[in-house]
Amino acid sequence: MPRYAAITGWGLAVPRRVVTNAELARQMDTSDEWIQSRTGIAQRYVASADEPTSMLAAAAGRHALAQAGVLPADVDTIIVATCTPDRPFPATACSVQRLLEIPRAGAFDLAAACSGFVYGLSVGSSLVQSGMSRTLLLVGADIFTHLINWQDRNTSVLFGDGAGAVVLQASEQPLGLLASNVGSWGDGETMMAVDAGGTLLPATPELLAQGRQYVYMNGREIFKHAVRGMCESSERALADAGITLDEITLVVPHQANVRIIEAVAKRLGLPMERCFVNLDRYGNTSAASVPIALSEAAQQGRIVPGDLVLLTAFGGGLTWGSAVVRWGSPAARG
Ligand code: ACO
Repeated sequence: MPRYAAITGWGLAVPRRVVTNAELARQMDTSDEWIQSRTGIAQRYVASADEPTSMLAAAAGRHALAQAGVLPADVDTIIVATCTPDRPFPATACSVQRLLEIPRAGAFDLAAACSGFVYGLSVGSSLVQSGMSRTLLLVGADIFTHLINWQDRNTSVLFGDGAGAVVLQASEQPLGLLASNVGSWGDGETMMAVDAGGTLLPATPELLAQGRQYVYMNGREIFKHAVRGMCESSERALADAGITLDEITLVVPHQANVRIIEAVAKRLGLPMERCFVNLDRYGNTSAASVPIALSEAAQQGRIVPGDLVLLTAFGGGLTWGSAVVRWGSPAARG
């Protein structure tokens, strides 16, 4: 039985359209200065009607498979972490399977909001480590702007769309996930949510007129819970892996707000130089944020085979999770 699930490929995809802070400032009462100083975001990508979640997810997945040198026929499992699926059902993972022409594979979606990729990495690695899967495609993809009320300056400036993907492959070498934990605090479910459109509150003309199909959140409370959740779960993942923060080459956190990342770094005692930040160009892409950041970090040479990487995320639910990963090269596949 393989003991490890090496990350052998990675990739990302974003929509065509870039929306700058200046463009938002022309539509609502906000400014580039406010957005940059409170969040660190300068621009985000926004999907058009012909760019559904499955399309972005498949594009990221295609890059990851090419990077890994894996043929579609070799993939036996597809997980898409998303809270903005193409449709209520079937799973967006099934659409990705069709788009990538993957002939046979188990395919399912995983909903854990912005923590979805870290949840997916835990689940996907367990499948590979148990022998149930040998080659697994894990995608984090969200079109969060679909849930945005563009009149609401409290939320609309924060989010963007995109997808990031990794390929997990069975390995005898100590690569990929070394330790992880995920958590949730259901009492905080209405701290950030979309109320209408599900079975609890089916969308009616009245609810739609009230804007109940859009995301609302308590930004300040989320901020506090995010810092605590990411720090505590990071410390636990490091302890479970038997690794100190000094041994970590790069921390790749969920990209929600640079001030949250700075607060996490400060509390962990981590210099910002060892913390990857790219939210200035993407905004908060929800489940796509960690794999997009991870892919960029690899592309830029910030992590190389053998390096230890800490991933940490939080999101609606409230959910959180952290993972310690040893970055592995395709040559290391066992
Ligand atoms: N432009 C200008 N002014 C704004 C804007 C805007 N876009 N948005 C809010 N304001 C105003 C508010 O109305 C408020 O005005 P008031 O004082 O007259 O009432 C003022 O700015 C300050 O608002 P605060 O809420 O105090 O601003 P804060 O510094 O807390 O920053 C923010 C708000 C950026 C939302 C911050 O709380 C945050 O990042 N929280 C975390 C949110 C988050 O990450 N959510 C997603 C996590 S879950 C997931 O990723 C799916």
